[in-house]
Amino acid sequence: MKISVCGKGGSGKSTVVTLLASEARARGYQVLVVDSDESNSGLFLMLGFDQPPVPLIELVGGKRRLKQKMDQPNVLGEASIGIDHIPPPHLLKRDGLMLVSIGKILQSLEGCACPMGVLSREFLKKLALKADELAIVDMEAGVEHFGRGVETSIDSVLIVVEPPFESLEVAEKIHNLAAGIGIGNVWAVLNKVPSEEIARKLEEELRKRGIDVIGCIHLDPEVFKSSVEGGILRKGKAAQEIKDVLDSMLSRTS
Ligand SMILES: Nc1ncnc2c1ncn2[C@@H]1O[C@H](COP(=O)(O)OP(=O)(O)OP(=O)(O)O)[C@@H](O)[C@H]1O
Ligand SMILES: [Mg+2]
Repeated sequence: MKISVCGKGGSGKSTVVTLLASEARARGYQVLVVDSDESNSGLFLMLGFDQPPVPLIELVGGKRRLKQKMDQPNVLGEASIGIDHIPPPHLLKRDGLMLVSIGKILQSLEGCACPMGVLSREFLKKLALKADELAIVDMEAGVEHFGRGVETSIDSVLIVVEPPFESLEVAEKIHNLAAGIGIGNVWAVLNKVPSEEIARKLEEELRKRGIDVIGCIHLDPEVFKSSVEGGILRKGKAAQEIKDVLDSMLSRTS
């Protein structure tokens, strides 16, 4: 299964990716986390790695040369990419969790990020998973990735929704775009929820927009503390709550 985790900037996508990946790993899945966010670079720290993987875009000589070199001999030129085909500097492993990164914007005036969108789309399309393998994609914020077709081979979209209203508007757009390309499994997970009253309100608003809510993660001081420290995600209440989210996702896709 290939799961894309989307939502408004700062809604908690990377946090949810990390929580889901750890929980899926604890249940025996081989989990590949795909960092497809070209702007933010802290995911590797949350997952407990000391350094980021060498971005896949380097396999084709960086952003500028992507178009010319996509079909030259390297793993990205293969028709189907198994996780074990990805060369080690580009695939980090830690306690059975695996991480690849598409590429990051490093310099000003570097040009637009479209080549990374192309690479994300092609990599995810070619990525061939075995039955016990799960790919969880940390998407860039917002909806532009849909315009680039990154989701064409994704089975399930999990939209992270936090209390501010804009988050609901982004969720609605994502829901419609995902449905528009035929993705059947599109769900929302509430995040940073401070009270049951807010949870009910968010759920109601999402229901009005035709979006199915599959779980709720409360505001977790441990999660917030880890973001201040900049290291591995601390296991607080959120790590318990993600169990129900994963259960719901797995039961709805089996
Ligand atoms: N359940 C939670 N409880 C408390 N804080 C949270 C929770 N989820 C996320 N946060 C905090 O919210 C901030 C944003 O989270 P995160 O980086 O996961 O969001 P994001 O959607 O990946 O952001 P970006 O769009 O910048 O990539 C971080 O400081 C994180 O610690
Ligand atoms: Mg993020």
